[in-house]
Amino acid sequence: MYTQSFNVPDESGQRTVKPIAHTEPPEQMARFDARIDADGRIEPQDWMPEAYRKTLVRQISQHAHSEIVGMLPEGNWISRAPSLKRKAILIAKVQDEGGHGLYLYSAAETLGTSRDQMLDALHTGKAKYSSIFNYPTLNWADVGVIGWLVDGAAIMNQIPLCRCSYGPYSRAMVRVCKEESFHQRQGYEALLVMMKGNQAQKDMVQDAVNRYWWKCLAMFGPPDADSPNSAQGMRWGIKRISNDDLRQKFIDATVPQAKVLGVTLPDPDLKWNEERGHHDYGQIDWDEFWATVNGNGPCNKERLATRVKAHNDGAWVRDAALAHARKQQQRQLKEAA
Ligand SMILES: [Fe+2]
Ligand SMILES: [Fe+2]
Repeated sequence: MYTQSFNVPDESGQRTVKPIAHTEPPEQMARFDARIDADGRIEPQDWMPEAYRKTLVRQISQHAHSEIVGMLPEGNWISRAPSLKRKAILIAKVQDEGGHGLYLYSAAETLGTSRDQMLDALHTGKAKYSSIFNYPTLNWADVGVIGWLVDGAAIMNQIPLCRCSYGPYSRAMVRVCKEESFHQRQGYEALLVMMKGNQAQKDMVQDAVNRYWWKCLAMFGPPDADSPNSAQGMRWGIKRISNDDLRQKFIDATVPQAKVLGVTLPDPDLKWNEERGHHDYGQIDWDEFWATVNGNGPCNKERLATRVKAHNDGAWVRDAALAHARKQQQRQLKEAA
């Protein structure tokens, strides 16, 4: 996972992308525009406008942070999984998310920002990550619902990113999307099993759906009318489908899945609109979304503290790896001499 459309400004960032300064060299700018217009890819060694580079660093690093913070709510359940099979699946999934973080930090590093800088921004609270991970996982059904709905929303958001104009990001997304598809299916399958169980199990699934549904819809980011960066992102081929269109696709795909599962989605306004050929749906609570994005959700402090502790506890591993690399290098230099 995970996106919330990735156009949420960081603390230090601007709410809107600055228009491209007129100081950009016109010849290089024209070449860049022509490549974008031809649906070509921009690679790390290519010239690119500063605003494009900054937007990508912000988007890819927010995405990377979301992957590694996203390991925490489900990680809580590894030691409490109901069977060996579920534990093995959950360990594999959480490990995948760590891998997604690594691909994405590597992609962002090709734009000239170091991993230390990005992690520092996360750990000091300057950088954002997906708001969905600031909610608690209260029962085992939450793990299934995160797979079904949260990873499901992430897939919807990320498939268009496989065609993103920045080469390293688009290539990372191809593999990420394949793994997300496994995440979504394992979650849905775990819920199907619970829905064949006793009433208490069925109630747990419904309760988890009730708590996560609206938060998943908010994952697609603010409505198009309130997304000042979206148009520029579309122009640059970073964003391919608008927040509202992605949200609609997700709702239309999820309603029949909920029916098969036997749960209701907690929205009295949710109904098929024959004329539009889509489902209508109710109002999303954007005040709650922004409060959570801005650090005031139920688990923001806990998530950040856990992440910082894990980073500090892992310092000896990084030190040892660096010392080993230095030794290897010295040995190679000695041998070459
Ligand atoms: Fe992921
Ligand atoms: Fe995932």
